[in-house]
Amino acid sequence: MSAIAPVTVEVGLGERGYDILIGPGLLSGAGQEISRRLPGRRAAVVTDENVAAAQLGTLKAGLKTSGIQPAVITLPAGEKTKSFAHLEEVVDGVLAAKLERGDIVIALGGGVIGDLAGFAAGIVRRGMNFVQIPTSLLAQVDSSVGGKTGINSPRGKNLIGVFHQPKLVLADTGVLDTLPIREFRAGYAELAKYGLIDRPAFFAWLEANWQDVFAGGPARAEAIAEACRAKADVVARDEFETGDRALLNLGHTFGHALEAATHYDGARLVHGEGVAIGMALAHRFSARLNLASPDDAGRVEAHLRAVGLPWRMADIPGELPDAEALLSYIAQDKKVSRGALTFILTRGVGQAFIARDVPASEVLGFLAENHPG
Ligand SMILES: NC(=O)c1ccc[n+]([C@@H]2O[C@H](COP(=O)([O-])OP(=O)(O)OC[C@H]3O[C@@H](n4cnc5c(N)ncnc54)[C@H](O)[C@@H]3O)[C@@H](O)[C@H]2O)c1
Repeated sequence: MSAIAPVTVEVGLGERGYDILIGPGLLSGAGQEISRRLPGRRAAVVTDENVAAAQLGTLKAGLKTSGIQPAVITLPAGEKTKSFAHLEEVVDGVLAAKLERGDIVIALGGGVIGDLAGFAAGIVRRGMNFVQIPTSLLAQVDSSVGGKTGINSPRGKNLIGVFHQPKLVLADTGVLDTLPIREFRAGYAELAKYGLIDRPAFFAWLEANWQDVFAGGPARAEAIAEACRAKADVVARDEFETGDRALLNLGHTFGHALEAATHYDGARLVHGEGVAIGMALAHRFSARLNLASPDDAGRVEAHLRAVGLPWRMADIPGELPDAEALLSYIAQDKKVSRGALTFILTRGVGQAFIARDVPASEVLGFLAENHPG
């Protein structure tokens, strides 16, 4: 419900290509945008309890103006929802509503709902139309774009899933006003990540303008649009992650190990916070390997600290396992071939690269030096 026109970012994947619309007021215009692209279809909305309380009413009203009265499937909030049990619930809900293959599954929520609903859309009737309406910052800048969907296994995160691209992504920047600040900050880590990978001017812009991004308004929409452009570029180059797309994992090797080491306890560490610490560590580690200047590592740490994100292992509440144990979490997450690990390292801000031959002994020494215990 705003006069400001949304920004459109195209994901160039040929016949699987789609638009990401970014701006305020998109939830109430959702019916129009969806029926323009997928006319006359029925829909199911998958959401979680928090998002339903904050945003579902607006979406339903926005769909109603175009005659869409969706079936609604509301799940508990949180990472544990990315499970077989909840996948079954979504699949059953879609089938119970008698939706056909050409009908639409709409994900209204953060990355958890997007990943789960996308997976359901990918497998019900061998692949239904899918629309992402991401409501967390992390989902708007990362998980809603690129078609990776899935659930977790007790053996690890995101191990079960399919690539299934959405037909449309509606990133309503206004819905972020109801997102808890800690979740906003966690998503900000993924936003800053694009600057650190290969957009140094964007990182410098964030250093100068982050307060406006947090406050909302045009700076927030512009930052999200830039992140979506960055992600869309990578996805268009490498849809199935056989090469470059791995750069998006900057900070994730250390981050995933810290998430596993804290047993995915969101009270201690949420995903984006793990990525923040992981990015700071990746820069510090690159400096230790004489690949990058320590000044760049200091710059990254200073920015994360300024926005209120954790940036070192000592910022995680409670005790961490020792360096050896942390290395074993990293080794579990990665293929270790002859004692070497694959990492995303950097030559400086905006100069990340894939390093396939990092000696495990170097990682261990670095973890021991930086361990708070
Ligand atoms: N598919 C991909 O490419 C990809 C990329 C990155 C992350 N992910 C996945 O994304 C997930 C993390 O996503 P997330 O950080 O969005 O977590 P999330 O979906 O759990 O959302 C975070 C919290 O914020 C709440 N919330 C979301 N939007 C809200 C709003 N507008 N108002 C009020 N509350 C709101 C949710 O209910 C939840 O409690 C992880 O499972 C991760 O594996 C996937």
